[in-house]
Amino acid sequence: MDLEEDIRSLQLDSAEDINGVVNPEDEKPDVDNFDKIEDEGLLSGNDPKQEVQAQSVEAEPKAKDKEIPPVQDEEDEHMKKRHLNVVFIGHVDAGKSTTGGQILFLSGQVDDRTIQKYEKEAKDKSRESWYMAYIMDTNEEERVKGKTVEVGRAHFETDTTRFTILDAPGHKSYVPNMISGASQADIGVLVISARKGEFETGYERGGQTREHVQLAKTLGVTKLLVVVNKMDDPTVNWSKERYDEIESKMVPFLKQSGYNVKKDVSFLPISGLMGLNIKTRLDKSHCSWWDGPCLFESLDSIEVPMGDPQSPFRMPIIDKFKDMGTVVMGKVESGTIKDGDSLLIMPNKDHVKVVAIYIDEKRVNIAGPGENLRVRLSGIEEEDLLSGFVLSSAANPISTVTEFVAQLQILELLDNAIFTAGYKAVLHVHSVVEECEIVELLEQIDPKTRKPIKKKVLFVKNGAIVLCRVQVNNVICVEKFSDFPQLGRFTLRTEGKTVAVGKITAI
Ligand code: GTP
Ligand code: MG
Repeated sequence: MDLEEDIRSLQLDSAEDINGVVNPEDEKPDVDNFDKIEDEGLLSGNDPKQEVQAQSVEAEPKAKDKEIPPVQDEEDEHMKKRHLNVVFIGHVDAGKSTTGGQILFLSGQVDDRTIQKYEKEAKDKSRESWYMAYIMDTNEEERVKGKTVEVGRAHFETDTTRFTILDAPGHKSYVPNMISGASQADIGVLVISARKGEFETGYERGGQTREHVQLAKTLGVTKLLVVVNKMDDPTVNWSKERYDEIESKMVPFLKQSGYNVKKDVSFLPISGLMGLNIKTRLDKSHCSWWDGPCLFESLDSIEVPMGDPQSPFRMPIIDKFKDMGTVVMGKVESGTIKDGDSLLIMPNKDHVKVVAIYIDEKRVNIAGPGENLRVRLSGIEEEDLLSGFVLSSAANPISTVTEFVAQLQILELLDNAIFTAGYKAVLHVHSVVEECEIVELLEQIDPKTRKPIKKKVLFVKNGAIVLCRVQVNNVICVEKFSDFPQLGRFTLRTEGKTVAVGKITAI
């Protein structure tokens, strides 16, 4: 069996990949590595209940709203540059927050005095080298432990693009937070540590390099920039051999995870801590063999198809708060929102009016697909909202269900359990986290021919593709994958492991 093909057959990629156009070279299954993938787990456990609770994305500083004057005539400024959400993923301590912090420093958003303050604070906590990460890791727990917990957010601009960085946690306990970050992202920066032993731990069984890549692909992150970090480390010293080793090991794995490596993935070496090959190209004195682009250039050149501004409006709510009314936060998945619009909050069908729209700190009159917004609404109390609700077009609102039919790819069940009706797991779909139960297996699908092979199947095992009916206790907002890929792809997790990925085929 070929996992790479299975994942493709699920067409969990972006809509443009649906025709299955693949590079002939990429079609070749990598048998050696596939065996490894089948043997290896994705992540070790934590409590599924905890998972539901852990789901949260850091809110933007809330008090700031009050300081923002509604400058209406700046409305179209943001329409001139595209906006992309970029999620930083990878194993714990790979250097995601350090690189994110360095990007803010190099783009002039953090002054030297603040850096000195962080250097001192990091030293006091016996975490000298963590000062750059403190730019992104803002809460005390994160700073003391040197680990990101909540998804950090920051913004920077290049010549062509406004970027929002979503700095995901690498630690396995916080995978639900990583899922939430990745589900809002257009592109991913996979940070890998080149330091001796660290690449190996991230890549091996239970390492988050593997799990994050598979989750990112499932969650619709179609383009990946793999940054090989810590190239300055004494165990690496900008070694071309080490860089090539990491690239050659990652390529087959990325292919198996469903990425078209030639088209959708690029690699580059950096030092997040020293700020090398980030904003400007590498100097030959640091590295003689790298002629390629720096991180900013690579990010700039990534092309991603954006959602349709003309399609019905959909914005899943990831957070909410009270501030001169009710403010909701989220990413526009489709359509356009304007000041004064009358919309519905689904699934409760509450009628609301758009009072103000903010991108970062700025008030705007209109915003399209891909934008992260804060939207002030009238007509609803903050208490009546939950993350997972969706701000929708009133004429054409998002579908609501307690049951749907989905095509599932079983990745790895706990203790090689069998998958039958009655199986329970935690469903993650856009910003929804909800317990679910498989109520009926409808048919098993042949991964090769994509045709049904067995009707009324009673159970399936690891690696199987199966069409089934899924039930949730509370009404949730979803769409068919074929209509809105981002609102119809999901993961099933149990005890801290991703057991299956799927797409909704009927509602
Ligand atoms: P989590 O959020 O816990 O997943 O970790 P992270 O990926 O955000 O890593 P973080 O940025 O917190 O860095 C972890 C450690 O690696 C810190 O001690 C950093 O100083 C160190 N580090 C990060 N980037 C580099 C680098 O380019 N070179 C060297 N030598 N060390 C680095
Ligand atoms: Mg971090």
